[in-house]
Amino acid sequence: MAFRSLCLPLLLLASSIHAEITVYHQQDQQAAFATTASGATYTGVAAYNPTQLVAPPVPSPAVLTNIPINLQQSGTPGLSIKHKGRFFGFSVEMSVANQVLGKNSSLIQVPFLNLMANIVNRAGSVMVRVGGNSQESAELVADDAIPDGRIITKNLTGVTGTTQTPPLEYRRDLLVMMGKISQLVNIHWFVGIPWFVTTPFATAIVKAADEELGDHLLGLQAGNEPDMYTLHGHRGATYSPFDYGGEMSDFLTQVASEGVDTTGRAMKSLVSPSIADFAWTPEQVWDSGLLDNHGDNIAFLTVEKYPRDNCAAMFGAPGNPDIVDPQSVLPLYLTHDSHVELIKPYLNSTQFAQDKGKEFLMFETNTASCGGFLGISDSFVAALWGLDFALQMAHSNFSGAMFHIGGQNVFYNPFTSPPTNESTFHQWTVGGIYYAGLVMSEIIGPSNNTQVFNYGVDSLSSFTPIYNIYENGVPVRVAIINYIDDPSGASTVHATISLAGGTLPSSVKVKYLLAKTVVQKGGYTWAGQTFGGNFESDGRPMGDEDIKTVNCDTTAGTCTIDVPAPGMALVFLNDDAFTENKGAPAMTFPTTVHTKTRNTAKVDPTALSTSNGYRMSEHELAGTSKPPKDAASVTHASLVFVGVVVGAIVALLGVGRG
Ligand SMILES: *[C@@H]1O[C@H](CO)[C@@H](O)[C@H](O)[C@H]1NC(C)=O
Ligand SMILES: *[C@@H]1O[C@H](CO)[C@@H](O)[C@H](O)[C@H]1NC(C)=O
Ligand SMILES: *[C@@H]1O[C@H](CO)[C@@H](O)[C@H](O)[C@H]1NC(C)=O
Ligand SMILES: *[C@@H]1O[C@H](CO)[C@@H](O)[C@H](O)[C@H]1NC(C)=O
Ligand SMILES: *[C@@H]1O[C@H](CO)[C@@H](O)[C@H](O)[C@H]1NC(C)=O
Ligand SMILES: *[C@@H]1O[C@H](CO)[C@@H](O)[C@H](O)[C@H]1NC(C)=O
Repeated sequence: MAFRSLCLPLLLLASSIHAEITVYHQQDQQAAFATTASGATYTGVAAYNPTQLVAPPVPSPAVLTNIPINLQQSGTPGLSIKHKGRFFGFSVEMSVANQVLGKNSSLIQVPFLNLMANIVNRAGSVMVRVGGNSQESAELVADDAIPDGRIITKNLTGVTGTTQTPPLEYRRDLLVMMGKISQLVNIHWFVGIPWFVTTPFATAIVKAADEELGDHLLGLQAGNEPDMYTLHGHRGATYSPFDYGGEMSDFLTQVASEGVDTTGRAMKSLVSPSIADFAWTPEQVWDSGLLDNHGDNIAFLTVEKYPRDNCAAMFGAPGNPDIVDPQSVLPLYLTHDSHVELIKPYLNSTQFAQDKGKEFLMFETNTASCGGFLGISDSFVAALWGLDFALQMAHSNFSGAMFHIGGQNVFYNPFTSPPTNESTFHQWTVGGIYYAGLVMSEIIGPSNNTQVFNYGVDSLSSFTPIYNIYENGVPVRVAIINYIDDPSGASTVHATISLAGGTLPSSVKVKYLLAKTVVQKGGYTWAGQTFGGNFESDGRPMGDEDIKTVNCDTTAGTCTIDVPAPGMALVFLNDDAFTENKGAPAMTFPTTVHTKTRNTAKVDPTALSTSNGYRMSEHELAGTSKPPKDAASVTHASLVFVGVVVGAIVALLGVGRG
């Protein structure tokens, strides 16, 4: 079992008085989520808005659903570069790092550790970037400058008007915390260098990040979306890629004169140019000589791209004609062709990066900028969309992609911690993008040798993308996505795999990513396991892992895999391909802690009925909860999920150094 949890010898102490809830999980995990009530009257924060869209109609005329997948044992042309397990990463807006990673280095968010551990167990490591727009004016301040043990604050002094972003102040403990996290889970970090002010640059983060993160510092981002600086008034009208390159020179000169890069490591790992496809093309940046001048300093070439934006709704006045109706753009998130179009402008650059020996990363992306779309970014749509997008980028020779996390006021988060005032009785909310990351980490696996190929066949529709996965040129796995929403079963894909120059086994193992409908919110399953709905996850998958065995036709030499509409299947073509990403021991972090008091928080019992299990007595430290009176007694172990968390933040004491 991939999800076996291992009790670590951690000393876990509740940071304050925590309440526990004991809740009961329904047997059909997806049914509970397929019919969420309308959110018309919802007034809470965006991340938990229950409003559902209407699934698009079944395509007419019907598309090809009996699909031949003709593999060849060797010599397949057009395969991608070899990918590392860490392909699918996460981008945390710096200003919300304290909501996502932890309050400070002694109060790390255990659900975050678990969510990352799930991926590391499959892929070997994971990339997390802390940065974004809020990095640009971030200032490292003295330890006593921010009260109450907090690590981040906004300095509102002198800020005027509504559009001026207040500078972010952070303590070194933010980096200490990241370093401690990496001792628990193999996370490699990107951090951002502030770039708004260049005379002089604020270089403190270079030294601090290098010292605190060491080998776990993957790169330092030199400015975020510089091609939008002019628009936002941070540079003059004539600011160009050439000027940006000049700033890079100034920065390197300053770093050298200050001696802040004592190991020399930081200045070999710059991340650039992170343009947003707004005012500059990548080619304009390459042609300005950035790599000719700074090729030794830059390790990662980066772009940031969202397929569209929701800025008018997020920041515009009600009735603004530019506000996009999510229902009208929903179909654009359920077709493969939209990914192909989005990535096309970067193909020249991924080739350029290969020629220069650099990794090319999608440094920040998600379903839509300015928070994403209600009903799209927070539904099963995002899981299928994110997976297809990540796979298409892998096929297109990106070396990784970071999906953005923006806090509680957005729709697109891969995962969201509960509001601070509710963290004692609510858990985390895990979104579709996280499932995409989890599945992607299993598709790629930990070998660092994985090649991806977007498979095409005559009359294949845009609704059923297929990716063949190779190790050392040999096909090992097949990923099949079905975007269609058709409960009748008529749109189920029947993919018939054959292998020229080799023999398929007599049976193959298959894992499914499923929901009842594309517009479902929460409760999706990967190989039968789920992270539940809003406020239901401690970061560990719930339920028994369910891996299907599909018998093949040994006479014909074919294996036929059914993929429901909607759904996604990952087919393991041999046992090696199946077990390779299970070699490492699965390690997750139980969040059971000593509690000082029994629950006093009031929780709506109807909310409890679709939440976690209550088998608490199995956990030595968690015996304080009693099953709710009206919960049926449960005899099937598979119906019950262990792991109710008390407060989202748990002290990790005596862990790591520093
Ligand atoms: C973290 O915050 C807690 C509670 O606010 C505080 O007691 C502790 O000293 C802080 N730890 C650090 C390293 O700042
Ligand atoms: C906050 O910003 C003001 C104005 O820029 C500055 O004078 C002050 O020192 C800052 N406060 C702290 C605590 O850094
Ligand atoms: C590809 O990129 C290179 C380097 O920037 C540039 O010189 C070339 O014109 C580009 N080719 C196309 C077709 O855009
Ligand atoms: C990816 O790179 C490989 C190796 O250079 C190349 O053969 C392949 O055509 C590239 N794929 C795309 C979509 O550009
Ligand atoms: C938490 O704070 C939010 C925002 O102020 C508020 O809407 C919500 O009701 C609070 N929750 C509780 C349980 O007090
Ligand atoms: C894969 O690459 C990562 C990062 O470079 C490295 O830490 C890991 O050891 C590599 N794994 C294998 C199996 O080579």
